[in-house]
Formats: sequence, structure tokens, C-alpha cells
Amino acid sequence: MGFMRGVIFLVLVTFQNLDPTDAVAILTPPRFDHGIAGLDTDRPLIVAHRGSSGMLPEHTVAAYELAVRQGADVLECDMCLTKDLRIVCLHESWIKSATDVESKPEFANRKTTRLVGLTHVVDNWFSVDFTLNELKTLRKKQQRSYRDKNFDLQFPIPTLQEMIDVSKNASRVIAIHVETKDPDWVNSLDIVENANTTFEDLLVDELERNGYTEKNSPVFLQSFSLDSIEYLANRTKVPLVLLLAAFNATDGELREWSTYMYGIGPSKSLIVYGKDPLGGSKQPIGGVSNLVARAHAHGLKVHTYTLRNEDRFLLWDYGQDPYQEYEKLLSVGIDGMFTDFPLTMKRYLDGVYNKTAPQPTTTCPPTSGGQTLNSHISYMYYYITYAAMVASYVNTS
Ligand SMILES: *[C@@H]1O[C@H](CO)[C@@H](O)[C@H](O)[C@H]1NC(C)=O
Ligand SMILES: *[C@@H]1O[C@H](CO)[C@@H](O)[C@H](O)[C@H]1NC(C)=O
Ligand SMILES: *[C@@H]1O[C@H](CO)[C@@H](O)[C@H](O)[C@H]1NC(C)=O
Ligand SMILES: *[C@@H]1O[C@H](CO)[C@@H](O)[C@H](O)[C@H]1NC(C)=O
Ligand SMILES: *[C@@H]1O[C@H](CO)[C@@H](O)[C@H](O)[C@H]1NC(C)=O
Repeated sequence: MGFMRGVIFLVLVTFQNLDPTDAVAILTPPRFDHGIAGLDTDRPLIVAHRGSSGMLPEHTVAAYELAVRQGADVLECDMCLTKDLRIVCLHESWIKSATDVESKPEFANRKTTRLVGLTHVVDNWFSVDFTLNELKTLRKKQQRSYRDKNFDLQFPIPTLQEMIDVSKNASRVIAIHVETKDPDWVNSLDIVENANTTFEDLLVDELERNGYTEKNSPVFLQSFSLDSIEYLANRTKVPLVLLLAAFNATDGELREWSTYMYGIGPSKSLIVYGKDPLGGSKQPIGGVSNLVARAHAHGLKVHTYTLRNEDRFLLWDYGQDPYQEYEKLLSVGIDGMFTDFPLTMKRYLDGVYNKTAPQPTTTCPPTSGGQTLNSHISYMYYYITYAAMVASYVNTS
């Protein structure tokens, strides 16, 4: 014990004698090699999930541009199709809650019910029933009640090409991460079958037109569908990432996937899980899995989803501090993290890896909205109540 105490004392003294820059150098994990041209970041990748979607409506050019200014390395697009087979970025092919389609009388008769997959019945408006020109008349809305709605009804649905243009317009290499959404369902649609094409072919053609053709091109293609990833593997050399929602991959699977995939994209709960592994957030940490180490042992990279600042998405042990979650994931060697808040992640990673990096900008595009009507009303209510209280106090004293 005495000897151990001496060692610990020596280590502490040694650390105290270092200046902060040396301490950072010692604590800095080994160099990251993402194998992607231009993405020599030396640290895990910041994947802006649906753009800077914590601040602006998801999947808009404005949210992608903000993510670039905030220091993201990668922009993410969930790809969906239009009736005229153009690729747009939308989280789902059904668009009621993400847009103002419901308020458009000219589209009232487009509402329909479809079976997506084996069990998912959706009664909604679908992107595949609109031409791109028609979709462009709609405006995006913030879908989450706890996020800012001041930017509602300002921005249209972007095409994949518009997201690519944002990335190419940046002064550094910005990669893209594109997900084929519900590919089995999309490939079963008449508009796709009649054109003798596939969802994946349309994607690869568009990528090729943009020069994304190589193993180290700044693009990742992701899907929850193994069929979609296998099909893509036969069509393109660009990096492929299989998303994993809830199951623990075996070593046999990882070995096989490593022969044609760049990496896996597990939910963060497959890496750091709660006491009740299916219990979601706001519960104590139950443990840390060996999934990242096992994927690395087979040469697969790991990009995990989705990190969000709000307490409702954090485990209890993080103390409402998203930095604690990053730290946990860094400690197992994560290669990339999807986040709705790229600015927060950039600041954290600069603190860990590069204290001299210039700080990203926090500015959002100007809002025409300012305070919402609801918040004006609640302020008015507050002031009236307060004035009444002061008046009654003055009267009685
Ligand atoms: C490209 O970047 C410039 C300067 O940052 C900006 O003014 C312009 O609007 C951008 N264009 C596109 C297509 O994003
Ligand atoms: C459909 O595409 C396949 C493969 O690209 C091709 O072999 C076939 O001839 C096409 N069929 C028609 C009817 O165009
Ligand atoms: C490629 O195509 C073949 C034949 O259709 C298929 O068996 C295989 O699963 C596909 N994917 C890969 C990664 O080879
Ligand atoms: C997942 O599988 C691996 C390999 O079989 C095993 O070592 C690990 O404990 C499993 N993890 C969980 C959380 O079940
Ligand atoms: C730190 O950031 C500066 C400014 O962006 C950059 O020039 C430098 O290469 C970075 N250093 C490392 C180790 O990444």
C-alpha cells in the first residue's frame, strides 16, 4: 500500500509539473485515421445529424450551412424519393409533421394510406406522390415541441444535390452521410419498378455525377437494411455503414461485414447502456459493451447515433451534461458521432484535442419571427399577475 501510495504521489507530482499543453498531449488518444481523403481530423468525426437540427428545422439547407459553420465534418441526409424520381432529404417519406402540407388545399386529395414494410400502416402525405416542383412549394416545420419553432415555414425541402452543394461550397472537406430509408418499400413502388431502376441505383448515379466513386471518397452510405448495403456493395466502392438499432452483432457477422463494409452505425445504447437496456435515457448507466473493440478488431469503424443535448436523451450519470456522454464514447475509441448539436461537440473535441483551434461561430440565420405569439401571451400573463400582486400588497399595507 505504502509503495502504491508513493507511485500515485509521484504520478500526481509529475502531472502538476506539466504545463496544460503537455497534459493535453499525454491525455490525447492515438491518432485517428478515417481513411477518407481530406478528413484527417485526428479525432472522431462530427456527423451533423439532419444538419444542425437541434437549432433549425431538420433537413434544410439552412441547417446544413449552420452545421458547416459550427465545425461539423460530415452532413447527414435521409434520402427519400419524389414522384419524378428525384432524391430529396427528408427523415421520412411521409411529410405531415415535417411540413405545412396539411394546410395546402391543393394537396388535400393526396393524403393516402400505405403499408410500409410488413406492419407499419401510415395515413399521411407521401413524398413519392409529389413532383419535386410540388414538394418545393412546401415549407419545413420544427417537429419537436421542446425545440425552437421560430424558424418554421421559412425553408423548403432540400434535394440531395443541394446538400452536396453546401458541402462542396465549404472551404474544407465536408463529407456526406446518406441513408437509404425504407429501401424495400421504396423499391416495391410502381414509380421505381416502372422505371426499371432501384433506389440504390438512383443514389449511386447521383453520387457518380458528383465524383464520389472511390473507396476514400468523402461519402458514407448507411442503411438499416443489410440487403440495401449488399446491393450497394456491388454497385459502388464508396464506404458503406450498416446501422444497428437493437441487436448485439456477433463476431462472425462483424468478420463477414468487414469484407465489404467500412463500418457499423450502432445506436449509442448498444455501446453505453442503461440499467434496463431497453429503458431508454434518464436512467443510471448499466454498463459499457465491447462492441466498438470487437468491430475494430475486424477493421470496421464505428459511427454511433444520436447524441442530443437535451436531458431527456441523456443517461442519469451524465448529470445533464452532454460532454459526459462524449467522454464515455471517446473512452471506448468511437470513430464518429451523429449529433443534433455539432457546435457543442466541436467545442468539446477542440478542448480535448486541439485547444488552439479557432472557435466555431454560434450565429443562426436571422429569424423573422422573434418571440412566438405564445411566449408573448405568457409574458403578458406574467406581468398582469405580477402587477395585480403588487397592487394588492400596496393596498393592504
Ligand atoms: C457558398 O458560400 C458563399 C460564401 O460562404 C455563400 O455566400 C454562398 O451563398 C454559398 N452558396 C451555396 C450554394 O451554398
Ligand atoms: C432493365 O434494367 C436491366 C439492368 O439494368 C436491363 O438488363 C434490362 O434490359 C432493363 N429492362 C428494360 C425493359 O429496360
Ligand atoms: C452482390 O451480388 C451478389 C449476387 O447478386 C449477392 O449474392 C451478394 O450478396 C451481393 N453483395 C456482396 C457484398 O457481394
Ligand atoms: C455481445 O456479444 C459479444 C460476443 O459474443 C459478447 O462478448 C458481449 O458480452 C455481448 N454483449 C452484450 C451486451 O450482450
Ligand atoms: C489545431 O487547429 C489549428 C487551427 O485550425 C490547426 O492549424 C492545427 O493543425 C490543429 N492541430 C492539430 C494537432 O490538429
